[in-house]
Amino acid sequence: MHILFLGDVVGRTGREAVAAALPKLRTALGIDLAVVNAENASHGFGLAPDMARDLFAAGADAITLGNHAWDRKELIPYIAETPRLIRPLNFPPGTPGAGSILVELADGRRALVLNAMGRLYLDALDCPFRTTAVELSKYRLGASVAAIVIDFHAEASSEKMAFAHSFDGQVSLVVGTHTHCPSADHQILPGGTAFQSDAGMCGDYDSVIGMEKAGATTRFWRKMPGERLAPAEGESSVCGLFVQTDDATGLARRVEPVRLGGRLSQAMPVV
Ligand SMILES: [Fe+2]
Ligand SMILES: [Fe+2]
Repeated sequence: MHILFLGDVVGRTGREAVAAALPKLRTALGIDLAVVNAENASHGFGLAPDMARDLFAAGADAITLGNHAWDRKELIPYIAETPRLIRPLNFPPGTPGAGSILVELADGRRALVLNAMGRLYLDALDCPFRTTAVELSKYRLGASVAAIVIDFHAEASSEKMAFAHSFDGQVSLVVGTHTHCPSADHQILPGGTAFQSDAGMCGDYDSVIGMEKAGATTRFWRKMPGERLAPAEGESSVCGLFVQTDDATGLARRVEPVRLGGRLSQAMPVV
């Protein structure tokens, strides 16, 4: 199976870049399953329902979220009726939406997509390790599901690596989101799980993690409330990860970064 994961979509420039690139990437890489984190799609804060619809129309099979999940309140009723839009699994019981979704691919194969959120320097949520372990106990990779993709939305690389090693061999991919900077540690772990501690963002990298740099920089120089941050609106880089899995086991055979457009050095897998 060919899997594409794209990191946090930031603002209009990120949305437009993903809408343009995703259909082409699906074709060029023969993608079976595409997952996009869109927690910053709406002006850097949250996701509006019409933006989610546009990402599905562009070719996202599932959309994941993070700490900005509810910044656009309209998403709360929308998530209840949109199973392919998921929020972190370890939000407290009773929170609208679900933390995982079984996606049926065009050829009938099924893939589990799961979103969890770390706790270091973030909200005091339920334990992402224990909640993920409980959810994964319902599935067998390579048997009941052909692939399992986890978006682990977290700040600290240490928590991301510990999480990935905890589920090595049980899932196809653990990819980090939230820092908005693509890490260079993409690899297949010893048990066969593909991992990258952060996929990077789909946004303008002439910025401070996607936001307009003058306002974002001032916050560090002066202890003063700044203006509300706005996304940088230059050309976006589309950042993510391509993973090829073994159909018999569901484990990874190949993992490569994708970085297209904008200021970053370019990376495109050859299939
Ligand atoms: Fe983000
Ligand atoms: Fe985040």
